[in-house]
Amino acid sequence: MSPIEPFDVVDLIRTKRDRGPLGTAEIDWMIDAYTRGYIADEQMAAMAMAIFLNGMERTEIRDLTLAMINSGERMSFASLSKRTTDKHSTGGVGDKITLPLAPLVASFGVAVPQLSGRGLGHTGGTLDKLESIPGWQANISNERMSQILADVGAVICAAGSGLAPADGKLYSLRDITGTVEAIPLIASSIMSKKIAEGTSALVLDVKFGSGAFLKDIEQSRELARTMVALGEDAGVATSALLTNMNVPLGFAIGNANEVRESVEVLAGGGPSDVVELTLALAREMLALAGLPDADVAGALADGRAMDTWRAMIRAQGGDPDATMPVARETHVVVASRSGVLVEQAGLPFGIAAWRLGAGRARKQDPVQHAAGIDLHAKPGDEVHAGQPLFTLSADEPARFARALEALEGAYRIGDAGDEVHTGGPLIAERIGS
Ligand code: URA
Repeated sequence: MSPIEPFDVVDLIRTKRDRGPLGTAEIDWMIDAYTRGYIADEQMAAMAMAIFLNGMERTEIRDLTLAMINSGERMSFASLSKRTTDKHSTGGVGDKITLPLAPLVASFGVAVPQLSGRGLGHTGGTLDKLESIPGWQANISNERMSQILADVGAVICAAGSGLAPADGKLYSLRDITGTVEAIPLIASSIMSKKIAEGTSALVLDVKFGSGAFLKDIEQSRELARTMVALGEDAGVATSALLTNMNVPLGFAIGNANEVRESVEVLAGGGPSDVVELTLALAREMLALAGLPDADVAGALADGRAMDTWRAMIRAQGGDPDATMPVARETHVVVASRSGVLVEQAGLPFGIAAWRLGAGRARKQDPVQHAAGIDLHAKPGDEVHAGQPLFTLSADEPARFARALEALEGAYRIGDAGDEVHTGGPLIAERIGS
């Protein structure tokens, strides 16, 4: 005889549909019953839509996060003799910051256990970028991860399926039911994985603007506040930066080309926006780990961060000196007239890079490591008629037409003195104590 269940899922769906709060025991049971397959996908989809439409109170979001953490294993780095600190970005176009950031922070003797994902849709995934380095392995055991953290200090790897499995199941369902963009669901999804990962400090890079997954800064602020509160409640020192994703970050959008740009930053160069954000996030991470005065710019300039990068790549089987993949075909777009580049919208460039093969439409699809876009000018730059504005790269030339379609109206050349549309400063706000 099957055990008697303590709640009826239809009652819980009705409660949320009618804007009522769910109690701790109800949420615990719901997540457990969904994970073990007792609650059907269609019932959970109805619940996700009710949450999307009617929201959740803070206590419900905390309960949901804890229930998802408890659905799987909790990692612990307590045996390491180093403090741990991590970063999570809500994802954007050209966002390769994790690559220079993790080794930079680790070069100060702090451990950075960075469990990352693969890209879905127009925002790229850190693992896809690193997998363009010949030999580099994303899947490593927890023991190997601890060993690399002890020896090198930074590890960027795939999260095992044992971490918050309820989130994996619920996220896939949200993806196909139009319920991804719900703040309670996003906050609990991200924070359940980060808290289960066992980091003692966490910095959140919450993006807003055209290339971000929440466009509106108000919504990003609400998400950031919710996640910071969840982190603090769980004993993880947490802060957030609200950062502008109206314009692609840096000049490279793709996989191999983003690795190349990250290495430029580690070599003390690179685009100013990528450097600014890397330094700001590194300062936040190190401050939360008890090193508020670390000279992060110095560690980029003197090669300490680069040394850690090379060791980190080698520790996961990669060759930091290997030749990176190059696309078979390129297509250069030039300026139609002279003037000033006044607009370069993040989202269309992300979609174009995705259509070139840099991203995937379904989880199981492979990515093309050399596909992507290299920008040759940024908003505010003076350009001359015939000058290259950006280069598209792909393995199959048939991909160019659809990428160019995505870019129609995405960039504009104006006259000197015209307003340049960047949507404001790169770092808009800090949230946290
Ligand atoms: N990333 C996650 O991990 N979860 C979400 O819900 C959205 C982005």
